[in-house]
Amino acid sequence: MTKKIIIAIDGHASTGKSTLAKTLAQQLNYVYIDSGAMYRAVTLFAVKNNLNAEQIIDHLDEISISFDVSGQVFLNEENVSEEIRGMRISERVSEFAAIAPIRHKMIQIQQGYGKDKGVVMDGRDIGTAVFPEAELKLFMSASPEIRAKRRFEELKLNQDVSYEEVLKNILDRDEKDSSRKINPLRKATDALVIDNSHQSKEEMLQYALKLVEKALN
Ligand code: DC
Repeated sequence: MTKKIIIAIDGHASTGKSTLAKTLAQQLNYVYIDSGAMYRAVTLFAVKNNLNAEQIIDHLDEISISFDVSGQVFLNEENVSEEIRGMRISERVSEFAAIAPIRHKMIQIQQGYGKDKGVVMDGRDIGTAVFPEAELKLFMSASPEIRAKRRFEELKLNQDVSYEEVLKNILDRDEKDSSRKINPLRKATDALVIDNSHQSKEEMLQYALKLVEKALN
């Protein structure tokens, strides 16, 4: 049987983690899991039900999150892939991602996806907390301005949002995600840093594929 590994991709907001993770998974025929989408789905549940960070703890059993093969995200059977990307959710997600019982539940589900290996997962704590034993760990970074510009170009297609708002949200989430008490965003000591400020998607993919090859041998 061909050897399969776990690939953990962490980094700041909008560094291109999910684009790289998704294409890597396609190339390798691995499962791709967007762990940020899970925290976003929980946040959407809270927002829709008017629950604050304390209240949601009593409702975690009512939340079920799943993905289909194409990576669409479902919250209690409803496809929420578009809705969770909106600024309304981006502005609240770091608040809910800092809550211990929520992280506990998400990490359990995420570890389940890694049972048979052959998974690429991106997030903030994948290499440090979810899969500390992952065979390949990447940590992605890029300048905040470049990240905001890329994100703004995507968002402006279907949202009324300014570049300044996107930049502020990115800086704000970086700060909150890095300073929270539980599993903050950190580079795992054995993670390889990829700064993609000036790299194309294709260059990044080729570089990552070489790293996978090394990890497999
Ligand atoms: O990857 P993303 O930007 O969609 O993630 C949304 C938020 O979810 C991010 O600001 C922090 C949180 N998150 C987290 O705390 N841990 C993860 N493994 C993934 C995301």
